[in-house]
Amino acid sequence: MEKTKIGIVGCGKISGIYFKAGKTFEILDIKACADIMPDRAKAAAEANGCQAMTVEQLLADPEIQIVVNLTIPNAHYSVAMAAVAAGKSVHNEKPLTITREEGKKLLAAAKAKGVRVGCAPDTFMGGGLQTCRKLIDDGLIGQPVAATAFMTCRGHESWHPDPEFYYKVGGGPMFDMGPYYLTALVSMMGPIKRVTGSARVTFPERTITSQPKNGTKIKVDVPTHVAGVMDFASGAVGTIITTFDVWGANLPRIEIYGTNGSLSVPDPNGFGGVVKYYPPERKVEWKEMPLTHGYAENSRGIGVADMAYALRSGRAHRASGELAYHVLDVMHAFHDASSQNKHAMLESTTQRPAALPVGLAHGQLDA
Ligand SMILES: NC(=O)c1ccc[n+]([C@@H]2O[C@H](COP(=O)([O-])OP(=O)(O)OC[C@H]3O[C@@H](n4cnc5c(N)ncnc54)[C@H](O)[C@@H]3O)[C@@H](O)[C@H]2O)c1
Repeated sequence: MEKTKIGIVGCGKISGIYFKAGKTFEILDIKACADIMPDRAKAAAEANGCQAMTVEQLLADPEIQIVVNLTIPNAHYSVAMAAVAAGKSVHNEKPLTITREEGKKLLAAAKAKGVRVGCAPDTFMGGGLQTCRKLIDDGLIGQPVAATAFMTCRGHESWHPDPEFYYKVGGGPMFDMGPYYLTALVSMMGPIKRVTGSARVTFPERTITSQPKNGTKIKVDVPTHVAGVMDFASGAVGTIITTFDVWGANLPRIEIYGTNGSLSVPDPNGFGGVVKYYPPERKVEWKEMPLTHGYAENSRGIGVADMAYALRSGRAHRASGELAYHVLDVMHAFHDASSQNKHAMLESTTQRPAALPVGLAHGQLDA
């Protein structure tokens, strides 16, 4: 099979799994990588058998068709716009951009150039969430009437080597982890039309305890506890909490409650996990459901492979810029609702991405 050549920009913590995707998906060929810190690009290129380039060289390479943008949130927009200006499709790590205006400009620029914009997360394409999507589409729980989504932790300064960005604009628990939960919910239940929310900064200063910056203080610029309520266009009502302020909790990750039963959805920050179903009876046990789809192991980069197939056939790609823009709009809307003391109506909407077919061969996405 002729492969699609990929250039990775940003060779930090998350890049390793994307380099691995180049080996998993037969359509992908990671030709080059670049980083604002040239030593990082050099080390990643050596470790993964590709070429180290400057960002400018990578964007000028006529063979590279998709740029995978793994920079920090604050650089997502500028790097993606440069890729689009160079005539390349681009797949960003999440969030798509920091502001709505940037997101809109990026999608418009890509449309004008005839290139694609994609965005993480692509975990909704994993075996766990695709199984849930199929069970819902098959009518197992009837009509979804409500959903809950909870991401609780005490922040990332205990393990990430450079955790400052999590507490700056574009970070915070909603922009960092919300994309997993909201993308999963939209993929299963469709777009959101109205939200409200409350958000707070609990600790104005935090101390890094990971290496090499142990002891360094971070000034917190964004809310670190965000609670929200969502009205889906379907009429279902969702509740979400994302927080960097909680030491321990007994909450589920995602549950979907239907007219004919409930579904326990695995962690949307992963690809597999346990799916459970509660039937329309009283006082019975949750039943574990077998996964109907593959890619239940860490398959980050599956969205990039899907875009490569989509570019070839002309079909829509699943982890799309439109989906990511809707998620970005929802995340902002929780914060807007909190600061403006009101519900926020969503201007954006999106289609549910197509479900993955059952029975795909490993490493392939189209038959
Ligand atoms: N670390 C994780 O577990 C994780 C998980 C999922 C998603 N993400 C997302 O992935 C992205 C990167 O996260 P990370 O943890 O790898 O961060 P990181 O800080 O470890 O790596 C980011 C890299 O991008 C480079 N960079 C920054 N600006 C650049 C620019 N303008 N041009 C070229 N290179 C530039 C940095 O030098 C650095 O090497 C973020 O958007 C984050 O939200 C991270």
